[in-house]
Amino acid sequence: MRTQVCIIGGGPSGLLLSQLLHRKGIDSVVLERRSREYVLGRIRAGVLEPGTVALLREAGVGHRMDELGIADEGTVVAGENWGFRVDLKAITGKSMMVWGQTEITQDLYDARDAMEGTVIDEADAVKPHDVDTDTPYVTYYKDGAEHRIDCDWVAGCDGFHGVSRRTIPQDVLTEYERVYPFGWLGVLSETPPVSREILYASHSRGFALASLRNDNLSRYYVQVDKGEVVESWSDDAFWDEFRRRIPEEMADRLVTGPSVEKSIAPLRSYVAEPMRWGRLFLVGDAAHIVPPTGAKGLNLAVSDVYYLYHALVGHYLEGDDSGLETYAEQAARRVWGATRFSWWFTTLMHRYPEQSGFDRRMQETELDFLTRSEAAQAAFAEQYVGLPY
Ligand code: FAD
Ligand code: DHB
Repeated sequence: MRTQVCIIGGGPSGLLLSQLLHRKGIDSVVLERRSREYVLGRIRAGVLEPGTVALLREAGVGHRMDELGIADEGTVVAGENWGFRVDLKAITGKSMMVWGQTEITQDLYDARDAMEGTVIDEADAVKPHDVDTDTPYVTYYKDGAEHRIDCDWVAGCDGFHGVSRRTIPQDVLTEYERVYPFGWLGVLSETPPVSREILYASHSRGFALASLRNDNLSRYYVQVDKGEVVESWSDDAFWDEFRRRIPEEMADRLVTGPSVEKSIAPLRSYVAEPMRWGRLFLVGDAAHIVPPTGAKGLNLAVSDVYYLYHALVGHYLEGDDSGLETYAEQAARRVWGATRFSWWFTTLMHRYPEQSGFDRRMQETELDFLTRSEAAQAAFAEQYVGLPY
């Protein structure tokens, strides 16, 4: 088989890239290791920047989001039993959109099917070859047979544990990493959200986050120690801990119920550079991971797609390769911006195991400054709604 762009990974970044390219007449094949049911069942991100919303619309997958998504014009940042609202809309003129990653992947799969796009799932042992030459190809196994796809370019959209990044020789790749000494225990429950706006709470017992998916679906998180296992958290234990960490007036109106999903995610910051090697481009989690504080992971994957999509359109439709040449630099610049914001917000809001009284006072004082300073809130809002592309 031959295609123009071979996309490894059928998560949100791979599917979105393939959908955008198709609409410009550029041919691609998506190779996904897992089954479609598995990909669609993964509960992950839920809060989209305006740039992400615009690109989903451009891809023709914005209809359900525009009808059912919830515009989020402000976000609440809280300390212990107090909080304040950052008016994102008034400060930046922009709002976030609450619309789950599972919905996005569902819409993208439906759109790919409707356009008869090629998405090969349960592709085993996917391997890019000769990406440092002008004739790259990708091999995989399916139904017991080996297959080969010849292509012009390979897009590595295969997440943190994928094969694409590992194709880049070790003496070429530089990895930057910070692992945080805690994780997030997340619960999805079919209960009315305690707040229509997202709440980030810094508490001496640890961080808590109240988010939502729709009027009867809440997404809540609490910080837990590194190494904790989800089996040791009953629903009751989760609700008790969550209630203790959010402001009292919210705790009083919290509606609890059985969890429909419960999992623990570790927190890390990670960036691999360069994001291009020869004819291989790294996109999304394949190149970088941010801690979830600030909801940047999926949004960053989408901004990489934006740069690569425009670069490929320049190459195929306009005879202009400048986008391809600057992809690595442009994408990484925005990645570092969001990496810095997520690291800062994580550090400000979480309890650290070795934290001294001094460290805690520094966090409280910075939160107090954020409450009082319009300039600090403007800096927060500008980064929260997403740095410009
Ligand atoms: P992925 O979604 O990881 O997709 C990669 C795809 O490639 C997968 O479908 C995978 O099966 C496939 N693949 C992997 N290896 C291969 C291979 N060798 N061959 C073929 N296919 C392969 N972000 C937020 O903003 N907010 C959140 O609350 C949030 N929560 C998260 C919770 C968890 C547990 C995780 C892991 C991530 C979370 N994120 C969150 C991050 C966000 O979900 C990711 O940034 C986003 O999914 C990145 O999309 P992606 O397409 O680049 O990668
Ligand atoms: C969600 C996740 C985040 O990391 C965040 O900062 C806000 C919301 C969520 O899953 O809804």
